Amino acid sequence: MAGEFGSVPEGVDPNRASVARIYDAMLGGRHNFDIDREALAAFTAIDPQVRALARANRAFLGRAVRFLVDQGVRQFIDLGSGIPTQGNVHEVAQAAAPGSRVVYVDNDPVAVAHSASLLAGDPNADILSADIRRPADVLNAPQVRRLIDFDEPVAVLMITILHFITHEEDPHGLVAAYRDGLPAGSWLAISHATDQDRPDTAAAVGHLYRSRATSPVTARSHDGIAALFTGFDLVDPGLVYVPLWRPDAADDVPANPSEYWVYAGVGRKNA
Ligand SMILES: C[S@@+](CC[C@H](N)C(=O)[O-])C[C@H]1O[C@@H](n2cnc3c(N)ncnc32)[C@H](O)[C@@H]1O
Repeated sequence: MAGEFGSVPEGVDPNRASVARIYDAMLGGRHNFDIDREALAAFTAIDPQVRALARANRAFLGRAVRFLVDQGVRQFIDLGSGIPTQGNVHEVAQAAAPGSRVVYVDNDPVAVAHSASLLAGDPNADILSADIRRPADVLNAPQVRRLIDFDEPVAVLMITILHFITHEEDPHGLVAAYRDGLPAGSWLAISHATDQDRPDTAAAVGHLYRSRATSPVTARSHDGIAALFTGFDLVDPGLVYVPLWRPDAADDVPANPSEYWVYAGVGRKNA
C-alpha cells in the first residue's frame, strides 16, 4: 500500500478500499492508497466519466450551500462529509456569510483526521467522528450542541451518502429521525446515486463496492429518492440530475444529464 502515509493509520482496513478515499481519488486528492486507486480504475472501466460525475456532485454541494445561505441559513450539519477537498462547506458558507457554523460528520478515520487538522483554529466549524446511522448520537454530540442552535433553521446535508445506507438499514426512517430533530423551516439537501436510467451501470458499481469497498452502494429510483424528502417541500427545480440543479450558467449543463446518474434536490421542512 502506498500513498502519502508512511504507515496505515489506526482504524484503516488495508484490504478494503474506503468509500471516502475512492471519492478523494476521483476528485484528484492525495489522501488515498493503491487499493483505493485500483477500485477507482475498476469504477472508471464501468463509467469512464465518473470523475466528471464526482466534480458535478461537488459543484452541486457548493450551489446548494450558497442557495441555503441566501435563504438565511447560518448553520449546517454535513453528514458523510468526506475527506476535505476544494469547496468545503464551511469555506463556501463563511465566504458568503461570515460566522456560519458547520459540523462535519464522518466515520472514516482518514476523513476525520484531515478534517480535524483543517478545522483546528476555526471556532465555528468542527468534526464529529460518528456513524450517521445513529441519529440520536449525532444530534446530541457535544460538537453539535455547541455549534447548532435548534431554535433556528438548520441545513442537514446528505450529499452522496444515503446510497451507502442499505434498504435493510431503512434510509427513509433515518432521514425522518434527523427531520424530527429539526425545527420547522429547516432544510435538507440530498444527492444520491440512481439506477433510474442507467440500471446496468448502477448494478456494476453496486457489485464493485460490495466486493471491494468499506460500504456497499444501493442506487435508488427517482421516486425512491424523492420519498426521502417526506416532510420537506422540494424547491425548484425539484429532484433532478445533478448538473440540472440551479446551474450557475447554461453552459454548465451537459448534453445528456442522465449520464450523470446522481439525483440532487433541496427541500424545506414544512411543519
Ligand atoms: C462519497 S463521500 C461524499 C463526501 C461529500 N459528502 C461529498 O459529496 O462531496 C461519502 C462519505 O460518507 C462517509 N460515510 C459513509 N457511510 C457513513 C456512515 N454510516 N457514517 C458516517 N459517514 C459515512 C464516507 O466515509 C465518506 O466520507
